Amino acid sequence: MNLPVITLLLCQIVLCAGMHRVRLSKHSRRHHKFPHISVYLANRNRIRGKHGLTPIHAINGGIEPTSNTGSDSKGVVVARLVNSCETNFFGTIKMGGNNPQTFTVQYDTGSSDLWLPSSKCGSCKKCGSSLFKESKSDTLHQNKTGFSITYGSGSVKGLVANDVLTIGDLRVENQGFGLVNDTTDCSVFDGILGMAFPRLSQIGTLPPFQRMLAQELLENQIFSFYMKSGSSDGGLLIIGGSNSSLYYGPLTYTKVTEEKYWSFQMGSIGFHGTDVRSCESGCPAIMDTGTSLIVGPVTEVHGLMQAIAAVYDATLDLWTIDCKLIETLPHLVIQIEGTMFYVHPATYVIRYSDFCFVGIMDMRGLTKWIIGDVFLRENYVEFDLKNKRMGIAPAV
Ligand SMILES: *[C@@H]1O[C@H](CO)[C@@H](O)[C@H](O)[C@H]1NC(C)=O
Ligand SMILES: *[C@@H]1O[C@H](CO)[C@@H](O)[C@H](O)[C@H]1NC(C)=O
Ligand SMILES: *[C@@H]1O[C@H](CO)[C@@H](O)[C@H](O)[C@H]1NC(C)=O
Repeated sequence: MNLPVITLLLCQIVLCAGMHRVRLSKHSRRHHKFPHISVYLANRNRIRGKHGLTPIHAINGGIEPTSNTGSDSKGVVVARLVNSCETNFFGTIKMGGNNPQTFTVQYDTGSSDLWLPSSKCGSCKKCGSSLFKESKSDTLHQNKTGFSITYGSGSVKGLVANDVLTIGDLRVENQGFGLVNDTTDCSVFDGILGMAFPRLSQIGTLPPFQRMLAQELLENQIFSFYMKSGSSDGGLLIIGGSNSSLYYGPLTYTKVTEEKYWSFQMGSIGFHGTDVRSCESGCPAIMDTGTSLIVGPVTEVHGLMQAIAAVYDATLDLWTIDCKLIETLPHLVIQIEGTMFYVHPATYVIRYSDFCFVGIMDMRGLTKWIIGDVFLRENYVEFDLKNKRMGIAPAV
């Protein structure tokens, strides 16, 4: 399949009174082969791995990395985030005390570990990733403890370390992280920065957000995602706060049901104006910024796909739809705590020129719903660690 060139969204973190904001804006990028579909398929296996399921396909994404740093006119920018074709939102961090090295990481509320590629990682070098040069950091503490994280299609492994992590002007001392010395996968970012609960950590170190709180770097135990697509201003990540100008109406709060993932009880998922509803008596779900799509159990997703006459493509393992039909499709409706949250068909259908597929995936063996960027791109979510809840509202 011949897939067109993509555009990326650039995002910036702007510091503001104890809050650290990430502004997203659109940016086109010189690019030759960018295997979109394989990104989704590789993601599928990463999702499977994340949730303890075995992989279906082994796909090598082979994607070039992107690295961006910069500052805005106020001089308070701390990093830029890139939205890679709506599949991955990632940003820039620095590691190392006196001579910090820069990396792109995916901010992932669906995992709890920070890992970066080591200069000793030959396979990471082949991916084109920025590598952490151990000899350049005099604040690095390396540990003999090994770790390995399986993503389904592959894995990363290496040794535990700690060093000074910098996000904007937030300086986090002794941040434990994984220094990867072997990877079987390539991705658009160098590493991952997990934002879920410590219990989910596979490396066994305190995640960066919890460490920021332990070091009293933030006033509020909150971070918020405002993801936007389809305009030059792509969105915002706020570390240490929330901003009511970025959403409509009050936030609807839902309790975290298990302090592992950002898990909650979803009321139902269906299509507006139809009587098709899944999970009508409620079902478990997680809010996962590190997953591009919405992923659900097989039977439920099949029911939804029938309602919009999507066609299953066995080769791609995706539900396709005639692009001409997008405007006639109903809104996706997710009910949380009695409030309806909507996703426009132009957002839940992923379009590449005249090829379209539905951004809702079924996954064998999955018993919960994974609510990823397809939802977050239209709905603002505040992650409140203090009150163990999430606040959700339609994004501006
Ligand atoms: C090495 O890892 C162990 C187990 O995670 C931890 O107890 C210890 O403090 C670490 N040492 C250093 C120098 O980071
Ligand atoms: C790579 O990491 C593994 C643990 O996952 C460890 O056993 C091995 O010694 C490491 N190799 C190097 C060269 O550091
Ligand atoms: C909230 O967002 C609005 C709109 O982007 C912006 O003008 C305002 O400065 C922000 N407020 C804070 C406190 O960051």
